Amino acid sequence: MKFKARLGNVRTIATDAVIVGIYEGDESPGGATGELNSALGGVIGELIKSGEVKGKLNEVHVLHTLGKIPARLAVVVGMGKRGEWDTDKLRDLAGEAVRVLRKHKAKTAALALWQDGAGLENAEWAGAVAEGCLLGAYLYRRHMTKDENGHEIEEVVLLENNADALGAVGRSLEKGRITAGAVMMARDMVNEPANHMTPSHMAEIAGEVASRHGLNITVMDRAHMEKEKMGALLGVARGTAEPPKFIVLDYRGDPSKKEVVGLVGKGLTFDSGGISLKPQEFMSDMKGDMSGGAVVIAAMDAIAQMKMAVNVTALIPATENLPGGRALKPGDVLKASNGKTIEVVNTDAEGRLILADALCYAVRNGISPIVDLATLTGACHVALGDLYAGLFSNDSVLAGRLIKAAGEGGEKLWQLPLPEEYKELNKSEIADIKNSGGRYAGAITAALFLQEFVGDAPWAHIDIAGPFMADKTRGALVKGATGFGVRTLVRFVAGLNYK
Ligand code: BES
Ligand code: MN
Ligand code: ZN
Repeated sequence: MKFKARLGNVRTIATDAVIVGIYEGDESPGGATGELNSALGGVIGELIKSGEVKGKLNEVHVLHTLGKIPARLAVVVGMGKRGEWDTDKLRDLAGEAVRVLRKHKAKTAALALWQDGAGLENAEWAGAVAEGCLLGAYLYRRHMTKDENGHEIEEVVLLENNADALGAVGRSLEKGRITAGAVMMARDMVNEPANHMTPSHMAEIAGEVASRHGLNITVMDRAHMEKEKMGALLGVARGTAEPPKFIVLDYRGDPSKKEVVGLVGKGLTFDSGGISLKPQEFMSDMKGDMSGGAVVIAAMDAIAQMKMAVNVTALIPATENLPGGRALKPGDVLKASNGKTIEVVNTDAEGRLILADALCYAVRNGISPIVDLATLTGACHVALGDLYAGLFSNDSVLAGRLIKAAGEGGEKLWQLPLPEEYKELNKSEIADIKNSGGRYAGAITAALFLQEFVGDAPWAHIDIAGPFMADKTRGALVKGATGFGVRTLVRFVAGLNYK
């Protein structure tokens, strides 16, 4: 799908479909919608009068133009209440529209949502259109030998009525295109079954990102992890025959500075729970337990493509969690690379174990601030649902930046506390700490566990167990992996530029 911004008019443009919008409660269409209405003999006005077109958010109507204008189809989309219109709604609406276009076999489309100023002041809206179109049209078909959904939309033109805005609109489109490309890359990795998306395969994909953009990459194997004394990660990897990998990807966009931001992603390519085996319902979703790692690798691809003037290191501890004959057992004690001992009371609380060694590595290498993303706890999903990821941080400035970046990118973070008082829930009688704090405040005790491995470094943990998968297609989300976190990380790192 290609995007272009240009001056033009819905009445004259040669394309398969023109897309215009209408607000809820508007009696007569204005702007581009008004022009289209008169070209089509007033049909849109009639449909509004009869109550068929209501302008409700995400409503999509497809009209055949019968040769009255060059476009074969006129698509009228509902923009919801005037005054509530924003870039997030536009992104989702673009996602809805593009699926309708696909159903009607349109290959090209032109979009004019600028009537009445459309309520969006800066050019950011253009990037949201690109994201919505690409993400809403996303399909995961890699293992279908017959692809019945093969119809592709080739080109979307954004019609502008202001020549001065074209440059900014074009730049915004390009950012949206790169960001959405990274989100789709993360979705592909997460949707990929665990027999394909092994730790070695994650390392290969990280290697491709590295060679595409000239980044430095180190992939540690078991022996190398032993040298680094990564006992917690190695402990989890005991139960599987699949070789674990610790992936380190370095982007240096500002070699004049020695500050390096760390992005850490949980790369658990399949979580069976280990000896503390999970129930079979939904176990297949645990192929996506490497979402944090996928999101971090994909975000690095976008960061490098946008040539951001910052230094970023991505760290991905990757392994399976299986109940093999040499697997970790409940009650075992492990030693992380900072020397802390951990009593493993539940082998299904493995994410915090592999992250512990990654966080120690970041601290040891002076990487700061550190942001980790992980499908860490079912408890966080229970607490915040599908829409919000949980945010935990020991640094209020860092937390504020992440919340802002998420909001701009159309993702939602909700901060949860790290109370001193709950630390005792993680106390072990035989080791420095145990890996589960029990039933209550499960997302918080998991975050408190991670905090033990970051020392004084400014750090934030994002628990994406709620939003990493969508159970239905809606707006820019397609059932399956969401790639949640890519948009937040890309904007967060871009924001560090202007410090
Ligand atoms: N990967 C899971 C968390 C998860 C569950 C993510 C469902 C997404 C959807 C994690 O490794 C896990 O099993 N956590 C346990 C922790 C518990 C044993 C303390 C959980 O949440 O049940
Ligand atoms: Mn688990
Ligand atoms: Zn897990």
